[in-house]
Amino acid sequence: MKQTVLALTEMAATDVTSARKKPKHLPASKTTYAPLSSVWEGTDGELLEAIFRFYPTIDPEPILDSTYNTGRIWKGSSRQVVSMDIDRGYKPMIVGDNRKMAGVPNASFGTVVYDPPHVGPQGRDKSRKKFDVDFGATVECGKDHNWNLSYLYPPFLKQAKRVLKPEGLLLAKITDMVNNHRSKWPHCDFIRMAEDAGFTVCDLIVKIRNGPMVSSKWETAHHARKRHCFWIVCRNNDSCER
Ligand SMILES: C[S@@+](CC[C@H](N)C(=O)[O-])C[C@H]1O[C@@H](n2cnc3c(N)ncnc32)[C@H](O)[C@@H]1O
Repeated sequence: MKQTVLALTEMAATDVTSARKKPKHLPASKTTYAPLSSVWEGTDGELLEAIFRFYPTIDPEPILDSTYNTGRIWKGSSRQVVSMDIDRGYKPMIVGDNRKMAGVPNASFGTVVYDPPHVGPQGRDKSRKKFDVDFGATVECGKDHNWNLSYLYPPFLKQAKRVLKPEGLLLAKITDMVNNHRSKWPHCDFIRMAEDAGFTVCDLIVKIRNGPMVSSKWETAHHARKRHCFWIVCRNNDSCER
């Protein structure tokens, strides 16, 4: 496994020289610049491709997907992705905790992707539900953690910074949620924690979900149904632009 990552790392070192260069001094009509909308109605995979065309100042590959699961977001992609998941049942290339990233070399990836569980077993019902298991949301999420999973972010961010090359991108998919009639704002936590970890947070893209998540338990809840998540774009640098 370690060898796989090292091999990819060596390959990547030669690729950096072929990184996309921004065209300079072109008249407006001849620029290749195509803006990216801050609201995205397509799939995660399509958005990632758009992000890879728009933001990178170095080669975005190899990519470390640090919460791979079944790799739905890479369906149909030809990107060079190294998969990591804490659950060996998903058969990732690296079985490991993204808060430790044991054996992953420093400065070896052009991009780290992070799509953590957004909720875990809560309240009196500590049973493992199928949805939770399928999405890896089986980690502690109780009163000690203010009923949310933001406490997972700082150790992950430290490792993401370590394994990213200078100027590399960290792309995080974060979903807000409501617990016990109170809104939790993990996307705000993530932005603050990423800045604290030394990243520059460059963008926040709203990604629309087809239908809102609903439950019969929410009949009396007075909050808008969350029909979106956020993709947060961070750069391992002290500026968003080169
Ligand atoms: C929401 S799913 C990711 C879905 C994935 N992006 C896809 O497209 O299929 C979250 C995944 O993160 C994994 N996970 C949770 N905590 C982790 C940790 N500390 N380190 C590595 N993986 C973790 C879970 O096992 C789960 O497979």
